[in-house]
Amino acid sequence: MRVLVTGGAGYIGSHTVIQLIAAGQDVLIVDSFANAKPTVISRLEAITGKPLLVYAFDLRDTDKTEDLFAREQIDAVIHFAGHKAVGESVQKPLEYYENNLDSTLVLAGAMARHAVTKLVFSSSATVYGANAPVPMSEDLPTSATNPYGWTKVMIEQILRDVAVAQPEWRIALLRYFNPVGAHASGTIGEDPSDIPNNLVPYLSQVAVGRREKLQIFGDDYDTPDGTPLRDYIHVEDLAAGHIAALSKLATTESPVSTWNLGTGVGTSVLDVLHAFERAVGRALPYEIVGRRAGDIAASYADPHRAHAELGWTATRTIDDMCADSWRWQSQNPNGYPDA
Ligand code: NAD
Ligand code: WQD
Repeated sequence: MRVLVTGGAGYIGSHTVIQLIAAGQDVLIVDSFANAKPTVISRLEAITGKPLLVYAFDLRDTDKTEDLFAREQIDAVIHFAGHKAVGESVQKPLEYYENNLDSTLVLAGAMARHAVTKLVFSSSATVYGANAPVPMSEDLPTSATNPYGWTKVMIEQILRDVAVAQPEWRIALLRYFNPVGAHASGTIGEDPSDIPNNLVPYLSQVAVGRREKLQIFGDDYDTPDGTPLRDYIHVEDLAAGHIAALSKLATTESPVSTWNLGTGVGTSVLDVLHAFERAVGRALPYEIVGRRAGDIAASYADPHRAHAELGWTATRTIDDMCADSWRWQSQNPNGYPDA
């Protein structure tokens, strides 16, 4: 099968490309490199031992997207491309709505014209909104608390509407929890272009000496140690979930399927700190500060549907995740080089 991976130079896309190739799929990538460095491509080629076909353009460019579908045989699409920073989306709502919605509309339009009807979409646990009970199951109502989250809610709805109009489509809405970790080689990983917002990238930069200390945003939540619980999932387990979902789309009768990709385990901020300290082999500096606006006490998946229907389960522990994140960060203290 020939799979188009949009955003394939990004964090989750790059790890998924490796597993697609290992599973014998033929891959092509579209990425604007808005949030990725070209170096990732040579690293992917070194890991997979294969030259990669990469189109560097923005999916909102209708002519280039249409050209791509006219020129290339494409059997299925995994759509990772999009902006993903929650805080930035509050500052730049129009940019987020425009990029995330337009790129998806242009892509889906080209797919429809060229009869490509298999699509795996990167959704997020953020669609469960602020007051969802844990563990979160796929049947909960969706909502959001910021523009980024609304783009995911809206795109899910757009894709459901496409599937109503054209029931031959097979669409997977994958709701990721908190992806962390890196490829075991330490050559591919998450490389924030700015000050990291997310816990593990920030902690990695503290450990490597780029940041002075971790600030823990609140220890007065109603959780076992007072810090919030999240469902951290190793990016390699997440990538494997995409391979499983893609293969399920070949046989399922449902035009749209929604699957949580999480471990089902809630891990606290202090638990992550201590796991990272074990990976690094020393204590890491931190202080407790006030809560971060918009944070909720607990978010973790009910992962049973993905297990039952995809035969997929996350297997890696928080210690595995921190060890792999640390290998990546210590081998690449400043992330991917520019050249
Ligand atoms: P990422 O930023 O590393 O990767 C996204 C890639 O898409 C980047 O390489 C970027 O250059 C590219 N891109 C962005 N807009 C584009 C456009 N218009 N045309 C072409 N390429 C474009 O992000 P990631 O962490 O790998 O996330 C991948 C997807 O998963 C995103 O849709 C994100 O919203 C979703 N997601 C991520 C997380 C997370 O915490 N990382 C959690 C849930 C969902
Ligand atoms: C985790 C915990 C923080 C940084 C975000 C998005 C979500 C999804 C995944 C895309 C929280 C605490 C963090 C720090 C801290 N992305 N923390 N100090 O907020 O669960 O989810 O990424 O879809 O939509 O909102 O992840 O890693 O930012 O935070 O104490 O410097 O770590 O308060 O409890 P979050 P996170």
